[in-house]
Order: sequence, then structure tokens, then C-alpha cells
Amino acid sequence: MSHFFHLDGVLHADSVALPAIAAQFGTPTYVYSKTALLENFASFADACEGRDALVCYAMKANSNLAILDLLAQRGAGFDIVSGGELLRVLAAGGDPRKVIFSGVGKSKAEMRLALTHDILCFNVESIPELHRLNEVAGSMGLTARVSLRVNPNVDAKTHPYIATGLKANKFGVAFDDALEAYRNADDLPHLEPVGIDCHIGSQLLDDAPLLEALDKLIELVDALAAENIVLHHLDMGGGIGIRYGEDGETEPVPVADYLGRVFARVDQWRAEKYAGAPIKVIFEPGRAIVGDTGVLLTRVEYTKPGAEKNFCIVDAAMNDLMRPALYEAWMDVREVAPHDGPAMLYDVVGPVCESGDWLARERALTVKQGDLLAIMQAGAYGLTMSSNYNTRGRAAEVIVDGSELHLVRERENPADLFALESLIK
Ligand code: LLP
Repeated sequence: MSHFFHLDGVLHADSVALPAIAAQFGTPTYVYSKTALLENFASFADACEGRDALVCYAMKANSNLAILDLLAQRGAGFDIVSGGELLRVLAAGGDPRKVIFSGVGKSKAEMRLALTHDILCFNVESIPELHRLNEVAGSMGLTARVSLRVNPNVDAKTHPYIATGLKANKFGVAFDDALEAYRNADDLPHLEPVGIDCHIGSQLLDDAPLLEALDKLIELVDALAAENIVLHHLDMGGGIGIRYGEDGETEPVPVADYLGRVFARVDQWRAEKYAGAPIKVIFEPGRAIVGDTGVLLTRVEYTKPGAEKNFCIVDAAMNDLMRPALYEAWMDVREVAPHDGPAMLYDVVGPVCESGDWLARERALTVKQGDLLAIMQAGAYGLTMSSNYNTRGRAAEVIVDGSELHLVRERENPADLFALESLIK
């Protein structure tokens, strides 16, 4: 169920009218629904109920502390990709023993930080990384739990910038090199191979490529077991897509169906080969947890009719929401309080000095200067990918909880943006 809907001609987030939020906190502002967030998390948690499974929220999608706290309270673990993200988990009261650390470029300092907090597992992406981790763990007198991110060479059939499971991508250890890499890890004194993982891409609408990848991981777990390298968890990565609302788009696979198929396959395999001995299953969803829980609320600064195109210039820009500029992503734009009368086709653009600064193209709108628009499904990869380009402070973030509003990130103040800079004397 959507938590953003028109009531009496005005777009609401749960029981709060969006103009009230704009009046109180200004624009552009990200507005999230707490209920939507908890429902999305529950769709994963419920499907895992009673099983040895862990949902590690991929916090790169949205790492606001309030969101992390809400998820941690409900038992979520976290997939992190930097030391900074680990510090966020700790600041939000998350459990480091439920943290997995992904990413191709972990520094020594990040490894030390993660080892100090005894995280669940490092998802290692290369042989040099295995050696570095072994060295760092050894210097601390510790053993690091590791999983290898295997690149199963499966086509995720998504945008090339967010497909990660093909041979041509920088991610993971190639499928054909994985056995050797595990032998390597097993031989290193300060590493303990405990799991296997993959992440083949993002915004996947069909789960067939994910199930194909699962079969490849199973093949490796069996081959390793034959060499007495016994793994205790299997991590499917993230990737399940959401509906963005474009005409003719494919329905994403429901979360419960996908998880059900993964568990069915895993159970069948464990029954056949391991007398039913279970293996822990980890998921790393990002977008599917937060994507449809948020909108970017923005105000129309000007309308600018032109010979070839009409522009609707709003106060949000590519620095606030990069997905259209970076991936030509289609984002739904809704008028908060649509007017009666004929609509015109507009490109919705921001104030940044780049032709690539657009949020939506050729949308039928009835807008006037001063109106509010909501860019829908902006909860994932919105604020986390935002920048200060053009010395624009990042947007505020507000969580709606029923009829209550919580400002969970203040709007950045331009003076703060250059506070770390200095003149040469
Ligand atoms: N695990 C790993 C190792 C990942 O690299 C990612 C996302 C995830 C999990 C979560 O994937 P999700 O469930 O959200 O699909 N900025 C792009 C998406 C980039 C995804 C990067 N990795 C976008 O806005 O579409």
C-alpha cells in the first residue's frame, strides 16, 4: 500500500499534507514514511521468520541515523561499504556483530576499525584484499571472518551502471578463480572463511538471474566442502527492484516470492547433500527497503515556456537527486495540489548550471510558480548520492510517523559548506 496519496486534492504522506511540511521545513526536503519503511522491512523479516537468515540492510541506499535506528530495533543487520558507514551503524545503536563489509577498496584503517568492532564478516573482493586483511588482522592478534564475493557472470538485465555480476565488472572474484581464492584464504593464518556472497546488480525486476547466481554459489559451496572448507552462510546480495511508476514498466517480483524461492532451493539442496543441515542465508536489500518510502518535495521557482520545450524550474536539482542525470532514471513527478485546466508538457529541471540537471522530462503538468511537486520513490539513492555542487546545501530530511513530523536531518547551511576551507596566508 502506498503511503503517499492525494486526499481532498492534496498529496499526503500518511496523515500529513505535504504543504504543511514545506511550510515548516522549507524545500527541497526528503519526506519519508516510517510506516512504509517498517512494512518494507517486515516483508523481508516475515519471509525469514523461523529460519536461520539475516537481513543486512544495504545502507548506501539511505543511511540516515533515524532510519538505521528504526531498522536496527527490528533486528536488521547492515551491509556497509566504508568505515564511515560503520560509524553510522554504531552511532545509530546497531549491532556490529550483524554487519557485513562489502566493497572493492577497503583501506587498512577501515579493516582495523571493523575488526575492532568484531563485525560479522568481510565480503572480500580480490586476492590482494585477502592478503591485506590477513596482515591487518594478524597485527591486531585477531582472525577475520571472511566471505568471498564471487562474480557469477550472470546478466542481471539492468542498467549497465548498476549491473555488477558480469566478467567485465570490477566487482568480486571471477567464478573460475573462486576455488583457488578460497584455498588461499583457508591457508592464511588470520582469516577464517565462513561464507560466500554475490551481488549481481540493482533494480532487478525478475529473480531468475538471482536464482541462477544462487545455483553457481551452491556449486562452489559443494566443491569447497569436498576440500573440507565448510562455509556457514550464503549471502545473496541485494538487487530486488521497485516500481517507479513509468507506463509499461515490468512489475518487480514480490519480495516474499523471491525469498520463498531462495529458501526452497536452499532447503532442497541441503536435504539432498547435507542431510538437511541448514546454512544461514543473508540478504542485502537496499532499494526494496527504502525506495518507495520517500519523496523529494520541491517548489517551482519559475515556469519558462520555450519554442521547443517548456521548462519547470524547481528548487531541487541534480545535486539533490542524481539518478536522472546519472542513469537517465525515470522518476515519477506528482503535483502536490494539481490545478483544474489544461496541462502543458514540461521538463522539470533544477537551478544547477548543467544541461544534465534535469529531474524529469516531458511531463504533463498544470503547475504555476510557487507550486509544490513531489518526486516519488526517492527514498533510495537520493540523499546518500547528493552533493554540494554549486555550493548548494543538502536537503533536509523529515520522517512522518502517523501525524507526527520528525526533522531527522537539518538542511545544510551554505556557510558550513566552506567551513573546512582556508585561505593561503
Ligand atoms: N549489496 C551490495 C554489495 C551492493 O553493491 C548493493 C548496491 C546492494 C547490496 C544493494 O542493492 P539494492 O538492493 O539497493 O539494489 N545508485 C544506483 C544503485 C547502485 C547500487 C549499488 N550497489 C541507483 O540509484 O539506482
